[in-house]
Amino acid sequence: MPEQTKEMVELVDLRAGYGALPVLHGFSIAVAPGEVAVLLGLNGAGKSTAVKVLCGAVAATGGSVRYRGEEITGCSTAGCVQKGIVMVPEGRRVFGGLSVERNLQVGSWTQRGNRGWVEAQRAHVYEVLPRLAERRDQLAGTLSGGEQQMLAIGRGLMANPSVLVIDEASLGLAPVIVREILKIARNLAEEGTTVILVEQNVGALEVADVGFFVDQGVVTATLRGKELADGELIRSLYLG
Ligand SMILES: Nc1ncnc2c1ncn2[C@@H]1O[C@H](COP(=O)(O)OP(=O)(O)OP(=O)(O)O)[C@@H](O)[C@H]1O
Ligand SMILES: [Mg+2]
Repeated sequence: MPEQTKEMVELVDLRAGYGALPVLHGFSIAVAPGEVAVLLGLNGAGKSTAVKVLCGAVAATGGSVRYRGEEITGCSTAGCVQKGIVMVPEGRRVFGGLSVERNLQVGSWTQRGNRGWVEAQRAHVYEVLPRLAERRDQLAGTLSGGEQQMLAIGRGLMANPSVLVIDEASLGLAPVIVREILKIARNLAEEGTTVILVEQNVGALEVADVGFFVDQGVVTATLRGKELADGELIRSLYLG
């Protein structure tokens, strides 16, 4: 019997790196169902590495990944997606030569054979991301940066995630689009999806239930409640 836990995702004392380069040195976070968690930290802090371990894209050399209380360390990326852990990677990476609609179709591979669900979910994605609905026949390569980010999120939603990880959603986007995307993340959490945002933009804390500051491969501070709006505390953590 797995140990009972209220957490959706737990990364416990993770160690990971690339070849001889160690990056995570005992990285631990816990995120409850339906929360928005934000990982903040400077370039190279290990944020992407940590979420890649969660999604099975980078191997842990120590520690464990738990999902709904189950030990899943070493699960493949495809296995993680099947379980409901879905990553929207950095850099959007939509299929530029395919339409918006076809890109969404590609995201639904875990649900293939379940046509009714795929169609209902696509309708839902268009409701959550109305900018995509207006552009469903447009080639993804001709979308604006913000629209491509929304499409990348929409494609992730087509895999029916319980945990959606979005790496650097706001990078290079205008503030108004960033706010729109953060609001979308918040709304997804209100619907019950657990959302993990990797960000360099401290503004993301406005939609967070929990914020983790990452520095040199470890979590150096965990903020909840009022702390998430404590500008002075956040500045001191971010600027050191
Ligand atoms: N595929 C890789 N091969 C070798 N080293 C890597 C690889 N990916 C990341 N690294 C290194 O691991 C360290 C942590 O990188 P990571 O991408 O986790 O940081 P990050 O916190 O996401 O940074 P950023 O905010 O710039 O995206 C960096 O020193 C980086 O150069
Ligand atoms: Mg990164």
